[in-house]
Amino acid sequence: MTRTTALEVVDGIDLHGKTCVITGASSGLGRESALALAAAGARVVLAARDAKALAATQQWIGAEVPGARTTAVVLDLASLADVRLAAAAIADIAPRIHVLMNNAGVMFTPFSKTADDFEIQFGTNHLGHFELTRLLIPQLSAAAGARVVILSSDGHYMSDVDLSDIHWHEREYDKFHAYGASKTANILHMVELDRRLRDRGVRTYAVHPGMVATSLGRHMTPEDITTLRGYLPRRAKRIDQPAGPKVATPDQGAATQVWAAVSPELADVGSVYLSNCGIRRDTAPYAVDEEHAAALWGVSEKLCGGES
Ligand SMILES: NC(=O)c1ccc[n+]([C@@H]2O[C@H](COP(=O)([O-])OP(=O)(O)OC[C@H]3O[C@@H](n4cnc5c(N)ncnc54)[C@H](OP(=O)(O)O)[C@@H]3O)[C@@H](O)[C@H]2O)c1
Repeated sequence: MTRTTALEVVDGIDLHGKTCVITGASSGLGRESALALAAAGARVVLAARDAKALAATQQWIGAEVPGARTTAVVLDLASLADVRLAAAAIADIAPRIHVLMNNAGVMFTPFSKTADDFEIQFGTNHLGHFELTRLLIPQLSAAAGARVVILSSDGHYMSDVDLSDIHWHEREYDKFHAYGASKTANILHMVELDRRLRDRGVRTYAVHPGMVATSLGRHMTPEDITTLRGYLPRRAKRIDQPAGPKVATPDQGAATQVWAAVSPELADVGSVYLSNCGIRRDTAPYAVDEEHAAALWGVSEKLCGGES
């Protein structure tokens, strides 16, 4: 696993004149990514649902990076109405978006619904970001060579997306499979978005950040750790190892998503799954199936009530 930090990744990279938008920028990996991109000179739009936490993040970045240019936008991905308001605010602030980092997420939540009646993990992790990204396509297209970085996870090995029962109406809710499905949806979103936008110079990446000590596990119980073992296929067992040397700090965990946003090595490359600041080819086959990706796009469009 990489011990590179996000700040080391931007060493020598100049992002003056560029605008980066990060969801979930008030905590964990999003916060560290925002710091690194601001340190490289980018104007960073911090989006998250808690205005106080956003203000604290702005203050922290300002103290670490004198002269940092950050703007906060309140965004609740669990409400499409809110996503639309936030997208309009972001478009006003940033007519050109060079990096959109879809980073916010929830994991292993008890069953609950978004404002639009979507299962909460799928609604927040995929559908909220799907709608936000769709609404920002003009601003991404206006920036020559924009990148969309979507946080997924090796947790995607736990489950495919069941397009016939996305919101768990037909099955007993399983919080592990629901998280896995949302993270598979993140990769499928990458596949179809990259196909649709690459001719406009917009490339898309999906990232597994490693196992990182953040607040993401806030819904986990000690029993969940044991239960999780049974859910992981053999190839993903490494994320099941005891906490210790394999668990990264947030600044290390943010390295790959920042690398996806800035690395010259990824020029002319897109639709790839990244970890450890490199390309991985071992995604679950269902997560990169092009027909499945197109089908999920269609379903997501219908659920969000619009066409792109
Ligand atoms: N940490 C890991 O080991 C790991 C591993 C694989 C993948 N990932 C992925 O990495 C991403 C970042 O996670 P993290 O580890 O940095 O977790 P984190 O510290 O919990 O940060 C998650 C961020 O998402 C925000 N968020 C949650 N629900 C939201 C909503 N409805 N609207 C807007 N923002 C919302 C949170 O805001 P609040 O604080 O207000 O809730 C927070 O800012 C996630 O997509 C996660 O799936 C993490």
